[in-house]
Amino acid sequence: MGFIAISKPKPIKFKVPKGWQKPNYNLKENPITEEGFELGKKLFYDEVLSKDSSISCASCHQQFAAFSTFDHNLSHGFNNSLTTRNAPALQNLAWQKNFMADGGILHLDLQPLAPMTANNEMAETIESIITKLKKNLCLKLLLEMKLLTPNA
Ligand code: HEC
Repeated sequence: MGFIAISKPKPIKFKVPKGWQKPNYNLKENPITEEGFELGKKLFYDEVLSKDSSISCASCHQQFAAFSTFDHNLSHGFNNSLTTRNAPALQNLAWQKNFMADGGILHLDLQPLAPMTANNEMAETIESIITKLKKNLCLKLLLEMKLLTPNA
């Protein structure tokens, strides 16, 4: 069975609040769309990004705590290993120039690669994540979002 694209993603307008600087992130390189937003949100809560499907981004960046870990001194990752620092709150990241406490990551697009591949966080490889996503999640999401339909 094959699939065909049936609609284009719907753009979302990114409003910069009055008096704020321009974001540090080039939105033209990766335009925000309703479907992209939903996909990002689903991936943030999906344990499939970790080696044994036990940890999602939200396991450490807990929504009820402004996307931080607040009730432990350190966040817990793969196989109950501990992170060296606690997960900070996540907000207004489009305005942030450096990520992590030591500023070691310089672009928002690169940031998620760190937790996905760190042995004490999600302990997965990018190759394996891509294989897993191709197999099920992406297809399911594209069908759910009505961007694709089976053609047979
Ligand atoms: C095992 C816990 C854990 C998981 C899982 C995790 N993080 Fe984090 N995250 C952290 C910790 C700890 C830091 C701070 C690290 C540092 O400063 O060295 C951090 C830092 C960040 C930062 C930088 C924040 C800043 O202000 O510099 C972003 C963005 C982020 N994580 C996004 C994500 C995303 C997206 C995922 C999923 C792909 C994810 N994290 C998964 C624990 C986690």
